[in-house]
Amino acid sequence: MRQYSLRMLVVVSLLCFPSIWLPAQKDPGVRGGLPVAGQPVPHPQPLPGLQVNDAKLFLEGLQRAGELESTCDSCATSATGAAFPVTGQGEIDPIFPQFHTNSNGLGARFNAEQCLLCHMQPALGGSAGFIVPNPGEPTPMQPENPMFRLVPKRFGRLNVTPAFEEQFGPVREVRFKFNPDGSRDGGVHQIYTIRGDITDPTIPNCAITQPDFAAEAAKNNLAFRIPLQMFGLGLIDSIQDREILAHHAATAQLRAELGITGHPNRSPNDGTISRFGWKAQNKSVQMFVAEAYNVEQGVDNDLFPQAMEEDPACNGTDKPHPNDSVRIDTDDLRGQGFDNPLHVMADWVVFAFFSRFIDVPHPVDNPSPSAQHGRTLFNDVGCSLCHTPAMQTFANNAEPALADKTANLFSDLLVHHMGAGLADNIIQGNAGPDEFRTTPLWGIGTRIFFLHDGRTQDLLKAIQAHASPASPPDPRTKTPAYPASEANAVIERFQRLSVPDKQAILDFLRSL
Ligand code: HEC
Ligand code: HEC
Repeated sequence: MRQYSLRMLVVVSLLCFPSIWLPAQKDPGVRGGLPVAGQPVPHPQPLPGLQVNDAKLFLEGLQRAGELESTCDSCATSATGAAFPVTGQGEIDPIFPQFHTNSNGLGARFNAEQCLLCHMQPALGGSAGFIVPNPGEPTPMQPENPMFRLVPKRFGRLNVTPAFEEQFGPVREVRFKFNPDGSRDGGVHQIYTIRGDITDPTIPNCAITQPDFAAEAAKNNLAFRIPLQMFGLGLIDSIQDREILAHHAATAQLRAELGITGHPNRSPNDGTISRFGWKAQNKSVQMFVAEAYNVEQGVDNDLFPQAMEEDPACNGTDKPHPNDSVRIDTDDLRGQGFDNPLHVMADWVVFAFFSRFIDVPHPVDNPSPSAQHGRTLFNDVGCSLCHTPAMQTFANNAEPALADKTANLFSDLLVHHMGAGLADNIIQGNAGPDEFRTTPLWGIGTRIFFLHDGRTQDLLKAIQAHASPASPPDPRTKTPAYPASEANAVIERFQRLSVPDKQAILDFLRSL
């Protein structure tokens, strides 16, 4: 009798307080671990089966994305094809490649001077990660957020690191929600300036200063975004609108039962579906990279011909505008290697070859039984109603490596109301203040930070953050009323799963 009641007690306790008895589910962490000082950043692979010339363009694009941008050609800190000078080896830095190809034109305001600084986890072309702040020096420091001290201080620049760039936090870029007059802003405000740059003698009177981020933060006016990866973007670029809409239509009934709607963001003039960026705000890879060049590095180009900061005192005397355009120089006098067909094209054109021809993320070869079980549960609880497991690319794509391919992207490429908890109060096209594109989950196993603002490193928290009740407007912060998150019913089902089942979903995600 006594034994029996003891057993009952155990059973009752397990039912009521399972966490006391069982280890809780836990995100297994970044697959492959965090970057280690002194270890090279792996190079990305091109898509298998690329045409020969496209494979060459991919490599040219990788080099251009690795260019450490200087403020003008005559101020370049490295010569064509040469190493970042601190290595002194006359070859590419093996730890973190920094090339100089084509022209230079870092803008007066910028976020970073190199695409790959924000796109190198777990390999060049990925999302952001940590890198050593003293590249090339004999005793490398522990890898950290490159926006913390490498970018702001490089070449004597007089920047102050804002509080939101933490040493071991995510690379963040910042948008302002409102203008001082109360109208909506929504655009990116570049964090750093070139003031004080010792490599450019033509800007002694440059006096621009950084925005007052502390004051904007106090007004709750900042909205953050972390970098997305480039892996597999060529496939996403090659999916027809009708494929996206057909997948959406196929789940109409199941979605209706769970309160999930979702709709496309669209390009305002031709009306086709835009799909890149956290709010699916951008139409194509080509458009994204040209815009990134101007927004992240301040390099104006044929597609974005006006500089984001036009102050003449900070734009120097040796920098044509638009800075990055197709070059037809007849000689190589300035050592830029333009007498080479691959170098004629502008960077903004060539970046797109890199981003379109880079390989897809690869899941683990042999997923554990738990990860396999998690894949089934991911469908059963309804995650896959937004995170569509696969779509097919257009059969007649001009590049065979992109034609009729299955993209295992885990996204419907549509935007959804996610409620007050995730809302950033930024509107982009048809994506409202609490709407986000279902983030593609391929490659998530090797990512460090999650959600649009990088608020967590824990997959479990990222999942739980999908849930939000409806909330009223707040006139003080000009916050609109938000509907409940479309994901609420699915997250409730997830929360009701047993600990091993929740663990299975986490294991599945880390296998991607
Ligand atoms: C300071 C960091 C930073 C730098 C430098 C940077 N990016 Fe990004 N990148 C981001 C962020 C943040 C996003 C997400 C932006 C958004 O959706 O609002 C992004 C998104 C992208 C995307 C879209 C990915 C997707 O899945 O939709 C592409 C493509 C891209 N970047 C290419 C580039 C290229 C090419 C360069 C160099 C010209 C570059 N980036 C430089 C931070 C950076
Ligand atoms: C209603 C649509 C919807 C449902 C249902 C949904 N998600 Fe999401 N998911 C999103 C959106 C939208 C985002 C981006 C939110 C943001 O960044 O603010 C996202 C982001 C994520 C992220 C972070 C991705 C990144 O790169 O940072 C993970 C992980 C994730 N979802 C997993 C899940 C899992 C697991 C489930 C099921 C339990 C699920 N989601 C259900 C729409 C959905």
